[in-house]
Amino acid sequence: MNRLYRLFKPLLFLFDAELAHKLVVAVLVLWSRLFPQPRELKPRLNEQDSKRLKQTVFGLPFAHPIGLGAGLDKGRVLAPACFRLGFSFVEIGSVTPRPQSGNPTPRMFRIVARKALLNRMGFNNDGLAPVAARLARLVKQPGIVGINLGKNKDTANEHAVDDYLAGFSALAKYADYVAINVSSPNTPGLRELQGTREITELISAVVRERNERVALPGGRRVPVLIKLSPDEPDERLDAVARAAVAAGADGIIATNTTLSREGVEEFPISKEPGGLSGAPLTQRALAACARIHRATEGKVPIIGVGGISNAADAYARIRAGASLLQLYSALVFEGPMVAAEIARGLALLLEKDGLTMAQAIGIDSRM
Ligand code: FNR
Repeated sequence: MNRLYRLFKPLLFLFDAELAHKLVVAVLVLWSRLFPQPRELKPRLNEQDSKRLKQTVFGLPFAHPIGLGAGLDKGRVLAPACFRLGFSFVEIGSVTPRPQSGNPTPRMFRIVARKALLNRMGFNNDGLAPVAARLARLVKQPGIVGINLGKNKDTANEHAVDDYLAGFSALAKYADYVAINVSSPNTPGLRELQGTREITELISAVVRERNERVALPGGRRVPVLIKLSPDEPDERLDAVARAAVAAGADGIIATNTTLSREGVEEFPISKEPGGLSGAPLTQRALAACARIHRATEGKVPIIGVGGISNAADAYARIRAGASLLQLYSALVFEGPMVAAEIARGLALLLEKDGLTMAQAIGIDSRM
């Protein structure tokens, strides 16, 4: 299918980036509606590779480490189609309490020569109620479904906790894990929530909500993850990651898009405000992942994300400390089967070095 995509891609790239994105989402919605029933994941791994890549993380079974990052599915619930493409987990969101239309268009751009996207979508989404209704209709899936929560643009930072608590109460029951997003660069002031005091307050409140108020069948406790930015100064990143873990976060997602324009300065589009993703983010996100792994002494699993587009990128991120991985931009540039391809390639790289996933995680970041 990826070869077919290579033929089709120049045509898709004739469209404005957001229009192409909407077309793809429409196809995935249709596909998910036509075939909502669970089917096995389709990474077409042989038995040995499956065994090598399978893990239990956050107490959840992951068939392999490659998931879809937040932002493609902002609440339409495309999980059935995504699992058919071979992702082992999908993250829906960011969802905010009230619906919001996001920033004016155009707000999404491609820098094709660098395999990069630049976006300032600004959390355009339908709000909690319609997303909850769609999730309620979702039948049991063959992979893991994470839900990513944001805050509304017009909610002041001093009331941000209330937005995340509202999101958690409404959606946690449908989630295998919940991600708290404080790192999008497109909601003014959001990244200020990445201070140690703010994170401690926010994570403690969400964890308390989970432990004391959101009773789920079988006493299930939904893992709470925090998604961080790649643009924090080193010491601040260390401190915020440590504070999140101390406050009870079960995992860290590293990283969101970057405000840096390193590697794309010569392109006029780089002057557009917004977050950069894809290949120019690879090194920065890799460094942040390694740093967080060291700062938190490997106490919680990390989901590594940012510029992962092939098996070598995936392997490097795992060796830096990630237990799981996500991608978004690579889907646009490499095609719909990229997750399946990376999973297969990753199994080969592990085999070549004679390592299990558990042995490879953080092997390059040990002190
Ligand atoms: C994103 N991303 C994102 N992240 C998040 O936590 N909430 C969101 O709503 C969005 N929205 C979003 C929209 C668009 C158009 C893009 C390109 C990205 C960030 C995404 O999940 C991921 O962290 C980055 O894109 C880096 O990964 P890639 O794209 O380099 O693989």
